[in-house]
Amino acid sequence: MLVGVLLVAASAGNFNQDFDITWGDGRAKILSDGQLLTLSLDKTSGSGFKSKNQYLFGKIDLQLKLVPGNSAGTVTAYYLSSLGSAHDEIDFEFLGNLSGDPYILHTNIFTQGKGNREQQFYLWFDPTKDFHTYSVLWNPQSIM
Ligand SMILES: *[C@@H]1O[C@H](CO)[C@@H](O)[C@H](O)[C@H]1NC(C)=O
Repeated sequence: MLVGVLLVAASAGNFNQDFDITWGDGRAKILSDGQLLTLSLDKTSGSGFKSKNQYLFGKIDLQLKLVPGNSAGTVTAYYLSSLGSAHDEIDFEFLGNLSGDPYILHTNIFTQGKGNREQQFYLWFDPTKDFHTYSVLWNPQSIM
């Protein structure tokens, strides 16, 4: 049974060329000639994807529309991570909630395997009504 769908849109590039579906057993789909990727969730599990390439720095703009209604117990996340034990990582996680209650945006940053930089935000809009762009800028000077 389908509980919810997450939509991710590609404005440049192509999901077929640049990304692999990593899990989800048919719940993740690349549509519209690679311009749209959908992740869905059922009673057993979710789905996911990852970039084929690694990047040293960059800016990621992710357009997301989150699962509406009762999304309690679901986590919609995207993260950038290097490989290995002392890894670097930037996390964006949307913690689902009961109908009518707000999502919490939870972020964290790891440097050389150390995290403990969690922050939580209430959004000032409903992330389930429309696509919104969530960006990470990562360069040698800063992470925004
Ligand atoms: C769910 O909504 C309630 C009420 O606003 C809030 O206190 C709680 O922190 C929210 N939980 C999550 C995981 O977002």
